[in-house]
Amino acid sequence: MRHLMSPLDFTVEELDHLLDLATDIEKHREKYAHVCDGKKIATLFYEPSTRTRLSFETAMLNLGGSVIGFSSADSSSAAKGESVSDTIRMVSCYADICAMRHPKEGAPMVAASKSSIPVINAGDGGHQHPTQTITDLHTIRSLKGRLSDLTIGLCGDLKFGRTVHSLINALVRYEGISFVLISPEELRVPDYIREDVLQKNHVPFKEVVSLDEVMGELDLLYMTRVQRERFFNEEEYIRMKDSYILDAKKMSLAREDMLVLHPLPRVNEISVEVDDDPRAVYFRQVQYGVYARMALIIILLGLEDKVC
Ligand code: CP
Repeated sequence: MRHLMSPLDFTVEELDHLLDLATDIEKHREKYAHVCDGKKIATLFYEPSTRTRLSFETAMLNLGGSVIGFSSADSSSAAKGESVSDTIRMVSCYADICAMRHPKEGAPMVAASKSSIPVINAGDGGHQHPTQTITDLHTIRSLKGRLSDLTIGLCGDLKFGRTVHSLINALVRYEGISFVLISPEELRVPDYIREDVLQKNHVPFKEVVSLDEVMGELDLLYMTRVQRERFFNEEEYIRMKDSYILDAKKMSLAREDMLVLHPLPRVNEISVEVDDDPRAVYFRQVQYGVYARMALIIILLGLEDKVC
């Protein structure tokens, strides 16, 4: 039995295989319509979500399976004090696989240690969000044709943004990747990402404050929201929240083939006027996320031999 806590739980070859499967699912949906007949996914979301929870549920329904779960801690027995360890023991009796989001870093790992079904980390605090990374990799590979030889700008809240941490972890394993880390001083990537991931893997990167001055260098711009829920101080959040606003004027500085990704939800950091720019692919990214999660469910349940 396998769990998914971090993108590094899959080798590059395994990830390539997963993305190949996601591509085949996109092309041949009908082949996969009954792969999970009789199977259930439990979505245990202790923290708000729109895309991740609904895309896991959509993925399982598309595969012929069904869905149970809760969408807030308040509507579960966590509100009465039940531990994550006890909850996953119950859920292991009800479902075949589980996706868990939790505000505490490491909570899905605790669940995995007590679980008799595969557990997927659907976002743990400011730590990791591996299925967003699989979504991002699938989007990049589908639209750029490669996951190597790319200059990638990561912009916004690089301190608390778990999608950024997971994406950097995953991409340092590909050839010819360099990063431009664009953030206010206060929201720079954590030291462990800079030292243990980027420097240790000899990946070229630079840290800048100005988005304008680097726009023309980028193959991809990954925008992120300032993570209000991780700030201890509301005044600090208000001071930071509009640090970057990508608009049509800024887009005019970018290459014709630069792509804009965003894990969403968006607040103010991308002006709606950018949505109609063909380089803005963040809503397509959402669709790629369903195929990627379908592929992940099939692999973790060991059901590839059930594909017609
Ligand atoms: N990208 C993402 O995790 O979105 P949700 O918080 O809506 O799930």
